[in-house]
Amino acid sequence: MSASVLNIDRSDRPRVLSGIQPTADSFQIGNYLGAIRRWVTLQDTHDAYYCVVDQHAITVDYDPAVLHRRTLVSFAQLIASGLDPQRSTIFVQSQVPEHSQLSWVLQCITGFGEAGRMTQFKDKSQREGADRSTVGLFTYPVLQAADILIYQANGVPVGEDQRQHLELTRDLAQRFNSRFGETFVVPEPLIVRETAKILDLADPGAKMSKSAPAGCLFLLDSPEVTRKKIKTAVTDSGREIAFDPVAKPGVSNLLALIAAFTQQTPQQVAQGLSGGGYGDLKAAALAAVLEFQEPFQARVNDLLSDPVALMDYMRMGADRARGAAQDTLRKVYERVGFVTLEGR
Ligand code: TRP
Repeated sequence: MSASVLNIDRSDRPRVLSGIQPTADSFQIGNYLGAIRRWVTLQDTHDAYYCVVDQHAITVDYDPAVLHRRTLVSFAQLIASGLDPQRSTIFVQSQVPEHSQLSWVLQCITGFGEAGRMTQFKDKSQREGADRSTVGLFTYPVLQAADILIYQANGVPVGEDQRQHLELTRDLAQRFNSRFGETFVVPEPLIVRETAKILDLADPGAKMSKSAPAGCLFLLDSPEVTRKKIKTAVTDSGREIAFDPVAKPGVSNLLALIAAFTQQTPQQVAQGLSGGGYGDLKAAALAAVLEFQEPFQARVNDLLSDPVALMDYMRMGADRARGAAQDTLRKVYERVGFVTLEGR
C-alpha cells in the first residue's frame, strides 16, 4: 500500500458513518444484503467510516474470549464484503477512545427520561431482567450518538430499527449546538431499504434472524450447512414457480434470495425458471448463495490467517479515525469549558 493511495483526500465529499456489532460468529445474509452492500457502494461517493462497535457488544452478558474472536472475524468480514481499507476508514470502536470521551459529555446533556424512552433499551432490558440490565445498556444510544457525531457524519446508513437512535443523535447534536455554539453536523438517517426482505427458510412467516439459526443463512456457513438449509427450506403446495409472496411465501422467498444475489427482480428469476420444479428452484438458490460465499470465505480465511496484516489494517483505520475524532473532541472540550493542556 503506497502512501499516495493512503492519503487520498475525500474531505470534499459528504461523510457517512455506520457500525455493526460483533455479536455473532458470522454476519448473516441479511446484514450483507440489507446494510453492508449499501456501505460498499457508498465508498464511491462518500468519505466513508465503518466501525465494529465492540463497546456496544459489552452492554449485555458476553464472554471476553468470544468477543475478541468475533471482533477480528467481523472486521475481516467487512473487508471481504468489499469495503476497501484504502478508500474507507474501517476500524474498531474501542481503538478510538475519543468515542467514550465524547459519550460522557453527551450523557451529561441527555435526559434520564429521554434515554428511558428508547425502545431498543426497553426491549433488551426486559429480556435481561431489570436487575441484570446494566447502565451501559441504558447509555448505549448515547455512545452511538458519539460514534456518529465525533466524525461530523452527514449521513448514517442504518436499518429502520435504528431510526429512534438517529433521532436522539440529531436531538443531542442540536441541543449541544444551541447551548455551546455550532459544533456538530446534524446527521441524516439514510434508512437502508432492504432490497429484498429475506424470510426464515424454515418458517417463511417470519423474518430471517440469527435467533432462529435453522432458517438463517450465515455468510460463513460451510457449503454443507448452506446446502442443508436450502434443501430443507419450506416450499408451498402446488408445483409452479411464481413470485407471489401471499400465496407462495416459501417459493417467493427463494426467488427473492436468488434475485438479491444476481441483480435481477424476483419476477425475472421466476421467468427464467418457468417450466422447472421446486428442485430446480432450490438448486438455483444454492448456486447463487455459494457463488457469493465461496470467494467471500476464502478472503476471510486469508485475512484471518495473517494476523499481522489484519492488525495493520486495524491500525491504519484507527489512526485515520483518531485524526478526525480528535479534531471534534478538542472543540467539544473547549466549548464545554474544560481546561485543556494544549498550546502551553
Ligand atoms: N446500534 C446499531 C445496531 O444495533 C449499531 C451501531 C452502533 C451503529 N454505533 C453506530 C450504527 C453508529 C450506526 C452508527 O445496528
